[in-house]
Amino acid sequence: MIPEGARASTEPPALGAVRLEDLVDREALGELAESLHALFGLSVRFFSSDGALLADRVTEQALCHHLQSVPGARAQCARTIDHVKRLVPDGAGSAAHPCFTGAEYLVVNVTYEQRRMGRAVLGPYLSPEIADPPPSLLLVDDQLDPADASRLLPAMPRLSRERAELIAAHVQSALDLILFSGHKAWLTSQMHLASVTESYRTLEDKNRRLADAVDRLRELDRLKSNFLATVSHELRTPLTSIIGYSEMLTEGMAGDLSAEQREYVGTIREKGEQLLSLIKSLLDLSKLESGTMALRKATLDVATVTEQVVSTLLPTARKRGVHLESSVPRGLARLHADGEKLRQVFLNLTENALKFTPSGGTVALSAALETSDAEDEGVGFVLGAEADERLVVRVADTGIGIPEAERARVFDAFYQVDSSSTREYGGTGLGLSIVKRLVEAHDGTIRIEGNTPTGAVFVVSLPTAPPSSSSS
Ligand SMILES: Nc1ncnc2c1ncn2[C@@H]1O[C@H](COP(=O)(O)OP(=O)(O)OP(=O)(O)O)[C@@H](O)[C@H]1O
Ligand SMILES: [Mg+2]
Repeated sequence: MIPEGARASTEPPALGAVRLEDLVDREALGELAESLHALFGLSVRFFSSDGALLADRVTEQALCHHLQSVPGARAQCARTIDHVKRLVPDGAGSAAHPCFTGAEYLVVNVTYEQRRMGRAVLGPYLSPEIADPPPSLLLVDDQLDPADASRLLPAMPRLSRERAELIAAHVQSALDLILFSGHKAWLTSQMHLASVTESYRTLEDKNRRLADAVDRLRELDRLKSNFLATVSHELRTPLTSIIGYSEMLTEGMAGDLSAEQREYVGTIREKGEQLLSLIKSLLDLSKLESGTMALRKATLDVATVTEQVVSTLLPTARKRGVHLESSVPRGLARLHADGEKLRQVFLNLTENALKFTPSGGTVALSAALETSDAEDEGVGFVLGAEADERLVVRVADTGIGIPEAERARVFDAFYQVDSSSTREYGGTGLGLSIVKRLVEAHDGTIRIEGNTPTGAVFVVSLPTAPPSSSSS
């Protein structure tokens, strides 16, 4: 928390309203008073500019103690002390104030950089020339025994005015040093405070702007998703008609077609289907982004999913001259998952693997059970807790592979490693972003590893179904 009124400038702050006690700690003042007392037997008090006592070292004089028991003397004593307390010498000087006992006090201004910061009061002390109690003491009250006054007065510390002023000068120069280092520390802390305040404000400002930008982006993202969903939906209906009518034309329902017409209609249908699958992907993505994709979960054997994927893609693999194999044993693991969506996941991954593997290569699906402590997912293994069992499915190919720096980005929508116009592989870059979201919707994770000597391995880790769960 930055104190109110803290300055945000990097200019050294002015001394302004700084008080003596801000620059020098009371302990240091106390030590100074102590040393003066030890050297000269002198009582010393330090006051701030507003009259508050900051430190002192005082020995009550036997005479003063005795005078407290004499009513007239006690009142006179209180008046003297009150005057001394309120006495402010001119400028950087000092002023002596006489006491009715014949002793005196010396009040010294404590100054720093021409500013009056506070006062030091030395005394009472008695001039060496005074041998007998003065009339002001003897006449202060009838009850005062002159013999007591004569006996106690000489015990006062003896000091001439000149010596007291020398001591005062010494106090001021000692305080100069103390105040200088205090001022330095104060400046440093003020500068530090100012720079912290400044960085805090800058940070706050940046945070505010970032939060605004995030809000704007969220709103844009929401608008984009709505737009995608609406447009995709509206495109699908006419497209279904285009595909349907081109199918009817191909089947000769509107009369025989020439070979050239058949070829054109075939292209219309093929491109229409490509467009339809793109629109379906966009719809899927927007549903996944908005969290409105419903999962129909049931307990299933992952092998049935991979078998379907392999049988769907075997013709494509043959056409491309790529060897497609699967070694996912039946009964290895049961998952509580949406079978259709899982099929979409492994279909996409295997299609990619086939697409990016040149003729003569291999695409292999495999699966294994792993416990979470063996999994490198940042999930800590808790001693004594039941290990979290995961099914890990790998789709490995011997194709062109994915450079390490690109592995996180390929899951972004529309991102393709080769985005040049001369790209030799088709597609729009939506497959993996849908895959990742589908896997995450199943509480799973997906990552990419390199294959040796070439190729990519997509590793999907999914939680297995608890033993009690049954098909729903
Ligand atoms: N098995 C793989 N080997 C090499 N690169 C891959 C592999 N799988 C994905 N990629 C890279 O990741 C990019 C994104 O993949 P993704 O499946 O999202 O899009 P796509 O296959 O290009 O298009 P779409 O799936 O939408 O038809 C690909 O363009 C490719 O650069
Ligand atoms: Mg793809």
